[in-house]
Amino acid sequence: MDRMSELPKDFLWGGAVAAHQVEGGYDAEGKGLSVADVMTAAGNYGERQITDGVQPGEFYPNHDAVDFYHQYPEDVKLFAEMGFKCFRTSIAWTRIFPQGDEDEPNEAGLAFYDRLFDECLKYNIEPVVTLSHFEIPYHLVTKCGGFRNRKLITFFTRFATTCFKRYKDKVKYWLTFNEINNQINYDRTFSLFTNSGVEIKPGENAEAVMYQAGHYEVVASAIAVQEGHRINPNFQIGAMIAMTPAYPATDKPTDILKAQRAMQARFWFSDVQVQGRYPSWLTIYQQKKHFDLDITPEDLKTLEAGKVDHLGLSYYKSFAVAAHADEDDFYSYNETNDVVENDKVPHSDWGWEVDPRGLRYSLNWLNDRYHVPLFIVENGIGAIDKLTDDHQIHDQYRIDYLRDHIEQMKLAMVDDGVPVMGYTPWSAIDIVSASTGQLSKRYGFIYVDRNDDGNGSMARYKKDSFYWYQHVIATNGDDL
Ligand code: BG6
Repeated sequence: MDRMSELPKDFLWGGAVAAHQVEGGYDAEGKGLSVADVMTAAGNYGERQITDGVQPGEFYPNHDAVDFYHQYPEDVKLFAEMGFKCFRTSIAWTRIFPQGDEDEPNEAGLAFYDRLFDECLKYNIEPVVTLSHFEIPYHLVTKCGGFRNRKLITFFTRFATTCFKRYKDKVKYWLTFNEINNQINYDRTFSLFTNSGVEIKPGENAEAVMYQAGHYEVVASAIAVQEGHRINPNFQIGAMIAMTPAYPATDKPTDILKAQRAMQARFWFSDVQVQGRYPSWLTIYQQKKHFDLDITPEDLKTLEAGKVDHLGLSYYKSFAVAAHADEDDFYSYNETNDVVENDKVPHSDWGWEVDPRGLRYSLNWLNDRYHVPLFIVENGIGAIDKLTDDHQIHDQYRIDYLRDHIEQMKLAMVDDGVPVMGYTPWSAIDIVSASTGQLSKRYGFIYVDRNDDGNGSMARYKKDSFYWYQHVIATNGDDL
């Protein structure tokens, strides 16, 4: 059945990246260190090391990334050639406030994003901007302990307000915190560090610290939404979650309850950001676990007043969870212990579940729960690409992955009536992988000649998927 022509004419086709994964120029024109600048590279399944500041002799892949900071005019031109209607990136917080706690912003950093957004608008490409995408100023980690500290609300909202005022006539679509819910995996050092700039100290309850940091972030997000709407009532300001649906591993009732709790735990952040209040189970859970959190009546009013306009989501994979024999009455969710192998779906080279139908399921689930427009701001597959001698990249596996997911998005939109504003696959151009620091875990439509060890010419080459996606956009998704 042909459903493609039924997609809205103003559907926002585009592509996504994040500043720290493409820009490089990590100390250019006054930029300060961010959390990404103190992370080394890892292998396929390893974890990146977080060093104590920048250490001599270590390799930090984000320091140069793919040199978008200098090459953006050529790159944006290639995005325009693909037909992008929008381009999602982030504003590197440390270009604007290098330490994070200054009173005044760094003009050179602000001017860079003026140039970048102007370049996009020249081709009628709408910027879609994330304010915090794993780029918290490192100084705020060492000085304040990251988002475990209430002061971060002030620093973040100052940054957000500065950006809103400066780019109010250039940027309409905003997202506050990228994949704010990754940190539900509180046992994983990477998640708390990249989401919140938080490092757990010996003897600390990581779950309680996660709930505190997450609370300050949802409050900061709610203040930003209100400030943004005051500055420009036309702003569309969204939350952003990693939509990884948790399926029950079996049809056993305990697995089903476990999966339900996993979904409640993974999505409490967006519950608060979209609905303006904490879900009942979580308030009781936090009390019964004696987490002793700083959540004030004033905060709860702020949350109610700062609901987002839309919900951005990444979708890469689904996973399955199983109950343990000795579950407590809460079915307490610990992602590190509770996720199990799902052999019903194939896996990528990096072991990620490939599950296109999970996207249709997710869009329906989110629509039923939130009733706000959804924006798929990441979807893609990390894969090894081979550059041929004549500079071609035959990435049929990427085309297959994206086609299968767009088909399911269309089913959700056309047959199920889910309002989806746009689709920006990850990634517009090859990036430094967030979790592994590798260049070889490639996601882009545009190949960058750069290797895991930092060698390469930084030349750009169009992959087969570049031409395929160009055609998808030209036909408004009619011809996949
Ligand atoms: C999301 C992030 O987690 O997924 C991106 O928002 C990231 O920053 C992407 O790059 C893919 O993950 P990874 O770890 O393979 O780069």
